[in-house]
Amino acid sequence: MLDKDIERVLVSPEEIHAAVVRLGAQLTQDYRGKEVVVVGILRGAAVFMADIVREMDIYLDIDFMDVSSYGEETESSGEVKIIKDLDTRLEGRHVLVVEDIIDTGRTLNYLVELFKYRKAASVKVCTLLDKPERRIVKNLIPDYVGLEVPNEFVVGYGLDFKQKYRNLPYIGVLKPEVYQ
Ligand code: PRP
Ligand code: MN
Ligand code: MG
Repeated sequence: MLDKDIERVLVSPEEIHAAVVRLGAQLTQDYRGKEVVVVGILRGAAVFMADIVREMDIYLDIDFMDVSSYGEETESSGEVKIIKDLDTRLEGRHVLVVEDIIDTGRTLNYLVELFKYRKAASVKVCTLLDKPERRIVKNLIPDYVGLEVPNEFVVGYGLDFKQKYRNLPYIGVLKPEVYQ
């Protein structure tokens, strides 16, 4: 039923799974023996978060943060409002931030700086999708990337358009008539 709004599938469930397995194996290797807190950024990262932590065969803590960027039209944006903060103290802990997509990089830039300020032992970023063409914060380079995507409006597997389509099992491009 949701399929009727999708122009084409960009990343199939099988391709998503392969990326998650590959990243999970790498993260398992890199974080073995470390005190890691995996931080999922609501709401987009919820689906990826659930899958990626199950591919990490190590002891880890899970926490979530809900943030919203505002002032999109102002040049000085990059200010991010915290809707729900972490419940976990980060001092001395290794932090792995999990995101669904990096676009301008403003959300993650803010969070990485915040977690460093909170004296995390290290802060790394794992994103399923990266859209480098749209990057404004040029020095924000994710440590772990599932797939690069072109500059198109993508939905599914956590990503929304007006809060819908997050439950699609694939990542797709919306038909223009849906958002016009
Ligand atoms: C989306 C996405 C990332 C962020 C990326 O979240 O999930 O968190 O935007 O954009 P940026 O790199 O330009 O900062 P959104 O603010 O739409 O909230 P949501 O996760 O609840 O959909
Ligand atoms: Mn988000
Ligand atoms: Mg969104």
